[in-house]
Amino acid sequence: MSTTKNKREQKKQLGQFLTPPDVATKILDKLTIDVDSVVLEPSFGNGSFIYAYISKLAQKGIDINNWAEKHLYGCELDESMFNEFKSAWKYGTLPDNFFLGDFFRYKMSSFSRQKYFSSVEGCFDLIIGNPPFGGTIDAAIQDELDSIFGLRNGQKIKKETYAFFIVKCLDLLKTGGKLVFICSDTLLSINTMAGLRRYLMDTCEVVVDRLPGEFYETKQPMVVLTLTKGGHGLAVFGEKKDVDIVNKTANSSWMINHECARYFSGDVLGNYMVATSGMTVGKNEYFLRKLQNNNIVEPYKIEIVQRKITLERELEKARLGKIGEAKIAKIKQMEKDGLTEKAVAVEKLVVPVKIKYPCTDYAPYNKATNQIIYSPTAWVIYWRNDGEAVYAYKKSGPWYLHGVGGKPFFKKEGLTWQLISSRLNMRYLPAGYILDSGAPCAFLREGVAKDELYFIMGWCLTKSCNTILKTVINHTRNIQSKDFERLPYPVWVSRENKKAVIKNVKHMIDEAIKGKIYTYQSKEIQELEKYFSCADEDVKQGKSFKQCSFNF
Ligand SMILES: C[S@@+](CC[C@H](N)C(=O)[O-])C[C@H]1O[C@@H](n2cnc3c(N)ncnc32)[C@H](O)[C@@H]1O
Repeated sequence: MSTTKNKREQKKQLGQFLTPPDVATKILDKLTIDVDSVVLEPSFGNGSFIYAYISKLAQKGIDINNWAEKHLYGCELDESMFNEFKSAWKYGTLPDNFFLGDFFRYKMSSFSRQKYFSSVEGCFDLIIGNPPFGGTIDAAIQDELDSIFGLRNGQKIKKETYAFFIVKCLDLLKTGGKLVFICSDTLLSINTMAGLRRYLMDTCEVVVDRLPGEFYETKQPMVVLTLTKGGHGLAVFGEKKDVDIVNKTANSSWMINHECARYFSGDVLGNYMVATSGMTVGKNEYFLRKLQNNNIVEPYKIEIVQRKITLERELEKARLGKIGEAKIAKIKQMEKDGLTEKAVAVEKLVVPVKIKYPCTDYAPYNKATNQIIYSPTAWVIYWRNDGEAVYAYKKSGPWYLHGVGGKPFFKKEGLTWQLISSRLNMRYLPAGYILDSGAPCAFLREGVAKDELYFIMGWCLTKSCNTILKTVINHTRNIQSKDFERLPYPVWVSRENKKAVIKNVKHMIDEAIKGKIYTYQSKEIQELEKYFSCADEDVKQGKSFKQCSFNF
């Protein structure tokens, strides 16, 4: 790997995106600087926040060295950053309150200054910084950390560096103390952070503000999170949020507003359809083929072989290279008995074979596309003996390939969309497809009438539905299967309008199968809006949510 690439990879693993000093200063401008506060920066990088804080104190004529010795603490994992910070220190000898190492291993006992604190926990008045986002947590302590920080007030806290930093820092904060962090805006709505949001609402006053400035090193949208331990209330971008309304959304979204709140008092799509992600093949090159005029050009000969089971290989495949004692004993026995498992042998053909599709060894494969309504089969997967080679390949690979996402729904009829998109590009999925992880799918629950599929599809193609999805449910680029299930079901649409939607959507699917291409500009798609919204007159007459919807 080149040095630049290596550095980039290392920065990514450390979640290292330094705060421009002017941004740190603007954030601190909003705080009351109290000389007596004991302050921590848990991942200080080259010290943007620390130096911005110091310069505020220096303006008050404080003797920094003396002050820092008793009041300022920091931690940084990256030695080069630590040294950069150290060499910029111009206030006498750097006090030994600064820890070079992993914040998750940080204990107050690591410091000789421990004498200043009456207890290890809850000793800071202010914690500031910009914790690593998407960084790697040391594999050796991951599981232990999960057991310490992974559950708070009955809420699951996602094993993510910034989430665990926040939780650990709250432990270290005094009641009434403040935490001010720059953090990823994914905190606002994504479901995996729902537990953290609930925990924060339960234990703190939460204020989220826009970032006062820009980062040069990342395009990841960020926000400023201010927590006051022991306080109450939530405000996001200047708007006070009612916690009860927030909790009406299944993901406890901080992006809910009064306009959207009305949608969350009825059914959700998950009552009618079950959504799922698809499978990660592990090696697309071996198994996936793009159709070329209904032909497959196969460059490989793929065979199932038997391979001896060995403990060495099982350890290589295992998560974090660890296997429990009982399982080790079992594998050792299997190895001793000479047992084998299925594996895949792939041989490159000298001349690729051309195969006419459809054919029994290949199944249609549902890869993501931005096409709406319907898209003809573009990809197929090698599926001889019902996917035997793909399953064997996954099973004989690393642990994270062992699961088969969406397997119970393979070949079923449903709806599907692109995982990564700014719009819910919904299309009809005919029966017969194997599902890819890049295109989540939804299928009618047992006993739900088939027409619901068309009605829900129509709703998903409207702007209103997309706005709810992309503001309240998950404002990031991803549209996960569970995001779909959390969308409100349009209970406010009249029976007559519902019938019209079903008829129109069925018609569009038929036409699209014959070759017509629909876009959001198509008249038929635009017409859907009117069926799902209500006339201004209804709103004026104060009709309830169940009778009408609201235009965005
Ligand atoms: C997003 S940067 C921000 C740095 C600094 N707080 C700032 O605002 O410029 C995150 C920092 O966390 C450091 N870091 C990553 N993992 C860490 C860990 N486990 N313990 C301590 N520091 C860590 C990185 O090296 C990086 O300097």
